[in-house]
Amino acid sequence: MNEEEYFGDAAKVALMRRSRALHELLKDDPRFSYYGRVVALTGPTADMLPAMMALARMQGAGVCYYFPKSDADGLFATLQAAGFTWDRHEHYRGGEDAFRASRQVAAEMRLPDDLTVQRLDEATPTGLVREVAALLQSCGVMPVPGAFLRGRAKPGITLVAIDGSGHPVASASSIFLHHADGAHPRDVFWGMLATREDRRGEKIALQLGAMAIEHMWVNEGARGFITGVRQDNRSSQALCGRLGVHDTDWIYAQCLDVAVLGGSSVTK
Ligand SMILES: CC(C)(COP(=O)(O)OP(=O)(O)OC[C@H]1O[C@@H](n2cnc3c(N)ncnc32)[C@H](O)[C@@H]1OP(=O)(O)O)[C@@H](O)C(=O)NCCC(=O)NCCS
Repeated sequence: MNEEEYFGDAAKVALMRRSRALHELLKDDPRFSYYGRVVALTGPTADMLPAMMALARMQGAGVCYYFPKSDADGLFATLQAAGFTWDRHEHYRGGEDAFRASRQVAAEMRLPDDLTVQRLDEATPTGLVREVAALLQSCGVMPVPGAFLRGRAKPGITLVAIDGSGHPVASASSIFLHHADGAHPRDVFWGMLATREDRRGEKIALQLGAMAIEHMWVNEGARGFITGVRQDNRSSQALCGRLGVHDTDWIYAQCLDVAVLGGSSVTK
């Protein structure tokens, strides 16, 4: 039984448990999105501010996707005045162009000969899932719980490149996150890209990311791929660009209650 596969330090595990519990209460409400990290607002609404703050009080973080860049300064000033801190990721998105670029990459490129690709699922040994989570963490990426990595909690895929000795060297994921009756039902999370430092530059993340996009488009009906990228993460930006996933006029706006977060963060 993999119900309790959470990863990271005590603060991160506690955050995931709180979010999972909150999702149980809110999963039928189309205003909210969730793919294993935090319950978030799908997009800005009239009652967004109190909802963001309430999410921050409960989880430590209240995130709003599709928030207009042009309104960010005003929002952050309001949150700060109310005693919260804030953070942002640039909201990247790709549509059909991303599918086409990914299909081309998947068709034309080859992974290094020593690697095989494995999809995480119910049958994947716990030890390998733990190794993948450790790889993500070593690259500064926060893993989602095992139920999401394995594609059990929501439709999704995690692809892992495994070397000759059986260890993961890179990973990429894509997972449904919005409510079917919400504003963006067929936009899916795409990302959690990570390549072990000594294997970077071999186009491994590019190919795994492309395969994940192609799979979600063809097999799951995804029509948009969204991911939060730091303004200074050049490697991620370049990789996204190669796969037709580009910056937009939106951000992932974050309202944070650092006392509740307990030293954790929700980045990546
Ligand atoms: C981002 C990351 C996954 C890339 O992994 P990788 O396997 O080395 O990437 P690839 O070899 O597949 O590179 C694909 C493309 O990304 C770009 N890229 C990768 N690393 C880059 C770098 N250091 N600087 C600039 N561009 C870079 C290039 O455009 C490259 O293709 P090109 O050389 O043909 O133009 C890896 O650097 C990593 O694990 N970073 C830390 C975690 C992270 O930031 N993840 C992204 C979360 S949003």
